[in-house]
Amino acid sequence: MSDDAIPGHPLPVAARAPGKCILFGEHAVVHGGPELLLGIDLYTQVAVRGSDRLRLNGHPESAAGHAYLGTAIRELWSGEPPVDVHAVSRIPRASGLGSSAAFIAALAAALGAARGGVRRDELAQRSFSVERGSQGVGSPGDTSAAVAGGYLSVNSRGPASGPELWTVRAGDRRWTVRRVPDPGWVWVVAYSGIPKDTGPRVRAVGERLTGPDGPELLERFARVADAGERALLAEDREETARQLAENHRLLQAVGVSHPRLEALLEAARPASLGAKVTGAGGGGSIVALPVPGQETDLLRRLARAGAAAFAVRPASTGAELV
Ligand code: PMV
Repeated sequence: MSDDAIPGHPLPVAARAPGKCILFGEHAVVHGGPELLLGIDLYTQVAVRGSDRLRLNGHPESAAGHAYLGTAIRELWSGEPPVDVHAVSRIPRASGLGSSAAFIAALAAALGAARGGVRRDELAQRSFSVERGSQGVGSPGDTSAAVAGGYLSVNSRGPASGPELWTVRAGDRRWTVRRVPDPGWVWVVAYSGIPKDTGPRVRAVGERLTGPDGPELLERFARVADAGERALLAEDREETARQLAENHRLLQAVGVSHPRLEALLEAARPASLGAKVTGAGGGGSIVALPVPGQETDLLRRLARAGAAAFAVRPASTGAELV
């Protein structure tokens, strides 16, 4: 896993970064709760070259309409020379699988390289600042997974969690990100085709989590993430799967499931040990832990139910020049 710096490289320069899949603790992590997630081996690649004006894939209009590009250029590039940014991605957009974070981290890595190089902890902070600057809310889980690859815990309370990678800040809130060992499992993620909208969804759940029953709900999310992390570290598939299902019940309780997602979870049941909504929800994707040897059957069941399903492993590298 690359926890090293991004080296300097003049324009033109290209970088890639992985998407992500959240196993435990989405939404609660925004309010300081623990989260466990992994960078997955679906990547976004970004190439940056000098241009006469800011362009995305050759088009000034696309650049002007893009949710994150303008913020990234303003915060990380102070103008000269104008650039043309070409992006190619294998991660479905607005699917809850981290396409925005991967785009931002790959772009921040390329721009950092063109400015003489950037330390990886600094890249994690910059990528989060761009995402949060555009979205207005959120945690640094997604962008940290895109920067680091592999399994990560955010704000882990577990005694056994691995070495600290970095702490990321927004205002007076801080999130500590640690490396978690890879149990060597294949996961299946399945996109429902219903795009999710993270900002409004995070704000709506935030009202629940900061309301009268907020502290109790947050503690329940945290206990599931703790137990999930312990089970993963023990390489205990059945217990991890039980905690996935438990986490899904909490996500249902805060209103982020959807009938299409419930249908995918139902379709996954015969070939998976446990499954849940992953990411902001209300659309987007599910993640399932397959019954060993039944990965292909699980993919087939989810495809038959109308999803775009992928077997994924942890990304072996985070953001890097290519
Ligand atoms: O935007 P998504 O679906 O990739 O997931 C974001 C995860 C949240 O916890 C809901 C928000 C965040 O920034 O952590």
